[in-house]
Order: sequence, then structure tokens, then C-alpha cells
Amino acid sequence: MTSWSDCHRRDGQSISFVPTMGFLHEGHLSLMKESKRLGNKMVISIFVNPTQFGVGEDFDSYPSDLDRDFKLAEDIGVDVAFTPNKADFYPQGFDTFIDQEKLPNHLCGLSRSGHFQGVMTIVAKLFNVVNPDIAVFGEKDFQQLAIIRRMVKDLNFNIRIIGHPIVREADGLAMSSRNSKLTPDQRITGLCLITSLKKAQSSLKNNETNAAALMHNAVEFICSHPETEIDYIRICDPDTLDDVAEIDRPVLMAMAVKVGTTRLIDNMILNPDE
Ligand code: PAJ
Repeated sequence: MTSWSDCHRRDGQSISFVPTMGFLHEGHLSLMKESKRLGNKMVISIFVNPTQFGVGEDFDSYPSDLDRDFKLAEDIGVDVAFTPNKADFYPQGFDTFIDQEKLPNHLCGLSRSGHFQGVMTIVAKLFNVVNPDIAVFGEKDFQQLAIIRRMVKDLNFNIRIIGHPIVREADGLAMSSRNSKLTPDQRITGLCLITSLKKAQSSLKNNETNAAALMHNAVEFICSHPETEIDYIRICDPDTLDDVAEIDRPVLMAMAVKVGTTRLIDNMILNPDE
């Protein structure tokens, strides 16, 4: 992989990169189209990274269909689909992990202990091996994107990080590889995430600027749906992820909700000036 990148860079080509865990959907494909537009050569990785899954999480049941992924990637014009093997990437004796002090201590990081350590470590390893000029990440995983931007700055990776807006199904559900695990009824219930975000947006438009009130309404609305269990709902500063009490500037409203056994996340920037 590294020699391929070196070879193309010597030819004056720029390399753009989209890391994924596979089971590709339109969200991933949209990142890839953006990536293709930004670089001359485009690499994706498909690797279900064990170190970012905690005990009792869905590593063993994470959906996968490599043949389908390769076909989709080829149709979009991906030059390389890099699929490292677990034993090569984490050989016996592997013992180095990247961590961050502040950003992981919010949102998903609070309930998924060690998750972002695993994400940063695999992304840094992929950056070192793929050696891209540009990498594209989705705003669906808003906290992940913020943490990677911080890591790239702090560790002097010479890579431009591009954030890409959330891609949604026609009815608003944020696309996710995990949506395939929802039953038809749960799939409908899953819409309560985006609906509660839109409700918060319209309450803010009607001058409800108190974050606690907006979060309370979202909790009530989501809990009124069957098979839901809220992990968190937060209104916070988009840069620091610290809680915001009064909405007097654009803020991030982010949530994670289990529908049945499937954990869904979604977020929206709420802007009081819009
Ligand atoms: P994965 O969940 O496969 O997502 C790969 C990339 O696609 C991430 O940048 C994610 O934010 C983006 N993405 C997923 N669904 C999206 C949607 N509906 N709209 C826009 N972008 C979307 O995120 C990971 O994998 C892993 O943590 C990884 C970064 C690959 C490290 O293992």
C-alpha cells in the first residue's frame, strides 16, 4: 500500500483517502465521491477495527459483504480498496495506543470507554500506511471527526481533513451500516432521532433557547417510542463538546439511542440566527 502511494506521489499525483469499516452505503459513497473530486488518486480502507469495540459491543456481528463493497467502490472509481488483515495490523505484542485528554470525555466517549483510543490508533496507523494528502470523514460521527482533526494537528500529520455532511435516507434516518440490523418496526422507530432534532430546531426558532428544555422535550419524545433506550442527548459547543446551557450561538445537538439492540447516533447544528 505504501509503495503504491509513494509511486503515485513521485508522479505528482495527490492521494485522497476514506477509511471505513465496510458494508458500504450511500453515506460512504458520498464521502468517496467528494474524495475523488479532491484528489487525483483515491484510496479507501475496509477494516472492522477490533480495538474500537468494547466488551459486549457488536464487533462479532458487525455486518460485512466485501464482494458487494468492492463492486460499489469500483463503480465510484476507487483506485485501491485497502483491506488490512487483523493479524498484520495488530500482531502479537502490539502495545501502543493514541489517546486524547478532553474531546473523548464527552458524548459517545462516556459510554464507549476506550472507543476513541481505538479509533485514533487505527486512523493513525492507516494514515501512516496509506500516506494520503487528504482524508474525508463524515459529520455523522461528529465527535470522531473533531478528535481526528485534533490528533492531526497535535501529531503533525501532513494531511488535510475534510468533513462531509450527514447523508440521510429519503425519510431522514441517518444512513448507517447498523441500520441493516433494524426490524421493519425498529426502522420506523429509528426516525425518532431525526424528528427530535428537527423539533429542537423549530423550538429554537420559536425562541426556546434553554438547552435543558430542548433536551427534556427530546427525551420525552424518544421515550414515547417502543424499544428505545437513550444513551445520551446533549447540546454542546461544536469545538470543545462542552455542555451549553443557553443557546446564543450555533451549538451541536447530538444523541445516541438504542433501538432494540442497535445503537443509533445522529446530530444537528442548531443555529439561533437561522
Ligand atoms: P464507518 O462507520 O464505516 O464510517 C466510515 C466513514 O463514513 C466515517 O467518516 C463516517 O462518519 C462516515 N459515514 C457513515 N455514515 C455516514 C452518513 N450517513 N453520512 C455521512 N458520512 C457517514 O467511522 C468509522 O467507520 C470508523 O470509526 C473508522 C474511521 C473507519 C475507523 O475504524
